[in-house]
Order: sequence, then structure tokens, then C-alpha cells
Amino acid sequence: MFSFKIINNLTEVFRTKEKMRNPMLKVIHISAECYPAAKAGGLGDVVGSLPKYLNQAGVPTGVIIPKYKLKWIEAQEYIEVGRGMVRLSNVQVPYIIQQQMSVNLGYPLFMVHVPGLFDRNGVYADNDTQQSYDDDVERYLVFQQAALQWINGWHEKPSVIHCHDHHTGLIPFMMKHCPEFSDLAQVKSVFTIHNGVYHGAYRWRNAHLLPWFDSNASSLLDWNDSINPLACGIKCCWQLTTVSPGYMQELMLSANGLEGLIRSEWRKSRGIINGIDTAVWDPRTDTMLPYLLGDDVSAYKAANKTAILSKFNLQADLPIVTFIGRLVGEKGADILPQAIRNLLGSGQRMNFLLLGTGEPHLMNLFRKMRYEYTGLVDISLEYNEALAHLLYAGSDFLIMPSRVEPCGLNQLYALRYGTIPIVRKVGGLNDTVKDIGEANGVGIQFTNLDAQDCAYALYRANQIYDNPLYINELRNKIMTIDHSWENSVQAYMEVYGAMN
Ligand code: GLC
Repeated sequence: MFSFKIINNLTEVFRTKEKMRNPMLKVIHISAECYPAAKAGGLGDVVGSLPKYLNQAGVPTGVIIPKYKLKWIEAQEYIEVGRGMVRLSNVQVPYIIQQQMSVNLGYPLFMVHVPGLFDRNGVYADNDTQQSYDDDVERYLVFQQAALQWINGWHEKPSVIHCHDHHTGLIPFMMKHCPEFSDLAQVKSVFTIHNGVYHGAYRWRNAHLLPWFDSNASSLLDWNDSINPLACGIKCCWQLTTVSPGYMQELMLSANGLEGLIRSEWRKSRGIINGIDTAVWDPRTDTMLPYLLGDDVSAYKAANKTAILSKFNLQADLPIVTFIGRLVGEKGADILPQAIRNLLGSGQRMNFLLLGTGEPHLMNLFRKMRYEYTGLVDISLEYNEALAHLLYAGSDFLIMPSRVEPCGLNQLYALRYGTIPIVRKVGGLNDTVKDIGEANGVGIQFTNLDAQDCAYALYRANQIYDNPLYINELRNKIMTIDHSWENSVQAYMEVYGAMN
């Protein structure tokens, strides 16, 4: 069994400077996102909460992310715990590692401050212009090496370095095949795929930017004549996980060409469903909600729905179907307009509410729909965490027509807040939202990625909305499902333990 010493007071560990350099962490997560510091999607939620629950389970765990110029990050206080230089070809890039000291997140959070590369107002793209950054090769190479250099300097190395998505996909390779990090060659690495769509690949002509590596190992970097960090992470990690069992199976069948590779690594692979931070997502205590859950679910739903209706132009007597998330093809946002048209065109009446930002042509399409269907379709084209909480509490249904969904967290938030999910039968959505036509069903599923199938699912939702007793019973049932981190933390501990 996995046994790590419990560290009760994390700040204790960092009291002296000597200790600061040796945080005595057993597991260190390295990621591009970590909520509340930096979140673009579900990756941020997971890296922002899993470490807290690992610590609670007795596994001393910390997190390293880049230091962006974002609101939350700017508002905190830091102490310096390390500094150094990363060589990018003939250029030396200085960095500082800082630990966040103002808020106790339940785990120590370290940030790699690299002036010029990460001190920008976005994680992957400029928050104002939505323009993505064009120097990601350099950015992630510096970030990954800076994190490893720092860890390499600890007297007592961690047992596990846990990397997330392609941004950190070269770390397992660097630990094993770069002479500079040879002290980490025996440290186990876990690589988790949250989103296999992005590989982070680039041409071999950029190879001079990489740290010095054993040229016998160069084929590990390669996929289809490119340097492919996602493929490299899959090949080199000690254990591979995806964020749901269903997604692991899907990737083995279809993964933009990587399916054969993933199949061949099945012995070290496992799908672990994400948990949600039930301390943050609790309808009884959520400070972002105007009306908290008491003893009466219907009263709580109705009061929050009224709060939504006061902000948006929708009909009080109709159900509210909400979409929350990035307006991109991956999330199936492109089939929604036609599905809504099909449904409303057939004489059905439902409200549609959309919260999110994304591809400009989709944002324009939804702007147009608001005028086409004034009073039935309303939108808020922004990223707004507080509004999202209200929408989970006050909506009747949450629609997720995803093309791919490695896990999906929004359906889990919806369930906990008493909002019935309507999902496409894919990845983690299929693992967590069984159809109400089946035993233990909790939502509505549809299979094909087309507007007609989606519209039919909406039609079914409208039918059950007419039966308040049924809706009430279903809400009460779905709100009690346990999607907390506890189970998944056990699974991760098995993965970490299995490597000892
Ligand atoms: C990505 C996936 C999403 C998953 C999240 C956290 O954003 O698209 O399905 O829930 O990562 O693992």
C-alpha cells in the first residue's frame, strides 16, 4: 500500500530557507493551468483541486505552473524559492521560482516567473484580442526545463512527477534522456491526457532549442517527422492516465494517428474519472449564489432561476437549457444553432442561454440568434465564473453536445446543482450521465453528432419538464450522487503506488 507521511501544516515545511529549497514533496504536478491562479478549461479545475485531496489523503503534493500576468496571480504575495537559467540554443533565459504565500490552497503552489515569455495577460492566448501566442515552442521548453532544474536541486527528490497534457509532455523524456537531469532518471513520471486533440507538435528544425539529449533516444521525440510532445509523453512516461475510462478506450480507437501508440502502451495505461472540488461546488454554501440550497430543492431552483430571469431576456414559464463552455468545434457548439432552430421551428418552446467565448464565427452566429429568437435565446459571450455558478443553480437543463469529451466537469457541476444534463454519448459524458431510459439514468443522452439528434434530445427534455413531480424526483436524485475526489484520489494513489 502507498504510504506517505502526512504533513499537517504545509506552510511549516517552507519555514526555513534550507527547507524552502527542499520542499519534501512526494508528488509534484507540473501544468500550464491551476485554478484559481490560471484557468482556461477543466485542466485548471483538476490541477487546482486534485493536489488538495491528495494532501488530505496523506500524500504531500505540490503544483508548479508558469507565472502569468493574470488578476489572481498579480494579487498574491510570493517568496522566492529558486532561480536559474535555461539555455535555448545560444541564449540564456533567466527564471525565478516563486511560491504563493497569501492563500492556503491546500497545497503549495509554485510559479515559474520568466520575464518576457509568460508575464502576459492570458494562458494560451491574449485575453483581450484572443490572439494565440506564437512562441509556444520556446515558452514550454523553458517552463519544463526550469521546473526540472529546480526539482533536480532538491536534496530529497519527489517520488512522482505528474505531468498534464502536451505542455509538459517532454518532461518524462528529459528526466530520462537529458544528461542535465540524470538525477531524476529514477523518479517516476505520470502523464495525464486531458485533451488529446492538441499535440503541441513542431518541426525538427527547432531541435536546437531542446536541452542536450542522448541522440540514441531521439526517436522517442518523434512522431510523423515532427517533435511531438504528446506522443513523446505517452512513450516516455512510467504511467499514462486519461481523465475517464471511456476516453482511454476511445483514444485506443481514434487519436489523430496516435491510436496505435496508445494501444501499444496499454499495460501502463488507466482511465481515472475526475472528481470535483465539493468544497467549492456546494449549493449549500456557494458564495457566488444568490440563493443557497436549504431543505427544499424546488425553492432553491426557483429562486436562482428568477435571478437568471432578472439578468436575461427569457420566458419565466419555459425551461432554461444552458450551454457553458468554450465555443469551439470540440465542444460541439457548432451544431447547437441548427439544433435550436430545428426544435423551435417544430413548435416546441424552450429558453436557451449560452455562456462562453470562442471562435469568432460561432460568437457571431449566437449574436444573430439572439435577435432571431428574441425572448427565447440569450447569450453572454464571456468567461465568467460567478455567472456560471448561478447558471448551474438556476437552469433546468445543461446541454453538452461535445464532439470529444475526455471527462467533462460541467455535467458534474450541473448534477450537483440539480440541473439535468443533456449530453452526447461520448468519453466521460457517457461514463457519468446514463440516460433516464436506463436503470439509474441521470440525464438525457444522444448519440450522433448532428443537429437532428441533438434536437430530439432537447424535445425529450421538454417532455419531461411538463411533469414537475418527475423533475423534482430526478433533481433530488442527481444532487446526491457522489463525484467528490475521494474515489479518484485512491485510484491515483494506486497509480503512484504501483510504480514504487
Ligand atoms: C479538458 C477536457 C475535459 C476534462 C478536462 C479536465 O478540458 O476537454 O473533458 O474534463 O480537461 O480533465
